[in-house]
Amino acid sequence: MEQKRLTLPNKPELLKSLGAGEGNWRGEWPKGGRFRKHPLLAALVFIPVFVLRAGGRTKSEPHKEGPRESVCLLLLPEQNSLLSMALQERQEPDVYQENFEPTSYLEYYRMNQDPVGDEVLHFLLKHYNATFKPGGLEGKLLIDIGSGPTIYQFLSACESFQEIIATDYTDKNLQELEKWLKKMPGAFDWSPVVKYVCELEGNRDKWAEKEERVRRAVTQVLKCDVLKERPLEPAVLPPADGLISSLCLEAACPTPQACRDALRHLRTLLRPGGHLVLSGGFETTFFMVGDKRFSTLPLNEKFLREALQEAGFIIEKLEKVTRAAETHLDNRSDYTGLFFLVARRGD
Ligand SMILES: C[S@@+](CC[C@H](N)C(=O)[O-])C[C@H]1O[C@@H](n2cnc3c(N)ncnc32)[C@H](O)[C@@H]1O
Repeated sequence: MEQKRLTLPNKPELLKSLGAGEGNWRGEWPKGGRFRKHPLLAALVFIPVFVLRAGGRTKSEPHKEGPRESVCLLLLPEQNSLLSMALQERQEPDVYQENFEPTSYLEYYRMNQDPVGDEVLHFLLKHYNATFKPGGLEGKLLIDIGSGPTIYQFLSACESFQEIIATDYTDKNLQELEKWLKKMPGAFDWSPVVKYVCELEGNRDKWAEKEERVRRAVTQVLKCDVLKERPLEPAVLPPADGLISSLCLEAACPTPQACRDALRHLRTLLRPGGHLVLSGGFETTFFMVGDKRFSTLPLNEKFLREALQEAGFIIEKLEKVTRAAETHLDNRSDYTGLFFLVARRGD
C-alpha cells in the first residue's frame, strides 16, 4: 500500500491543534475533546508519534528546549487523511464563532466614552491617515483581514483605493458590517469616529460624504481564515495592491508558528511590491468582549520583525506607542502598547 510522508508539528503543537488547549486553546483537555470522541484517531496519531519519537531518543536523554523539533512519519493513506482532517479542524469550541458578540465589541469604539477604545482609535487613525494621505499608499484593490464589525480602518484608505474588500472569520461580524454598509436599523453609529477622521484630513464638515464614500468603496464582505493556506477560499480575487489588518493576528493565531504561517498566507493575497499595513497590541495575553475572555498571542517587536522578514516582507515603517497610564486600570485587556507598521512584499 502506498505510504505518504508527512511532517508533523512537535507534540505540544500537535496536542493543541487537536483540541488540547490553554485558555481557550490552552490548559486542560476539553470536555468531549476530539480524542475522547475518536479513540481510533488517538491511537492512529499517538502510537506512531510516540513509537517514532521514543526510537529517536534514549530514555536518559534530557528533553530538549529551544527550537521546535518536528518528526517525519510514514503514514498509511487512511491515517494520513484522518490526521490531516484533525489538523485542519479548528480547536473546539470555535470560540470566535460562538462567543464573539459584535455589539459588545463595538462598545470599545464609542468615541469619547471608552478610554481604551479612544487610545486605540487615536493611534491607529493617526497612522492610517498618514499612510493613505495623498502621496502615500494607493491602488485599485485593498483587502482588510479580520475586519470584525468595524469600519474605522477604511476611513482614510477609501480616499486612495478604488475598491475595498472587508473580511472576517465570524458570520455575526460580517452581518454587523453589512448592517452599517446598508444603513439598516440598529447599525452602529460611527459618525463621531468619521468626524474625527475628517478633522484629521482638514474637512470635518464632509463626514456624511465620507460615510457614503466608504459605503461605495467596500464592494464585498467575505469570510476569511488566516490559519488557512488560502485565507479567502472559496473566493478567488485578483492580487491586491494593499492589505490592512488591525488587532487580528494576535487574536487569530494560537502560537508564534501559526502567526508566521498566517503572514505567509497573507502574502499570497498581495501582488509583488504590494503593501501590508498591520497593527495591533504588544504583549497582549487576553481581551474581553462583554463577559467573554479571548486569549491572544503576545507579540513583540523582535518577533514581528523576524516573522515579517521570514514571510517575505520588508518593513518600511514601524510606529509604536506605550499604553497610557490612564488606561492601565482598565482590566479588559493587558496590552502594554500598540504598533502600526507598513511592510512591502519583497519581490
Ligand atoms: C480584536 S478583533 C479585531 C477587529 C477589527 N479588525 C478591529 O480593528 O477592531 C479580532 C478579529 O479577528 C477575527 N478572527 C479570529 N480568528 C480569525 C481567523 N482565523 N481568521 C481571520 N480572522 C479571525 C475575529 O472574528 C475578530 O473579528
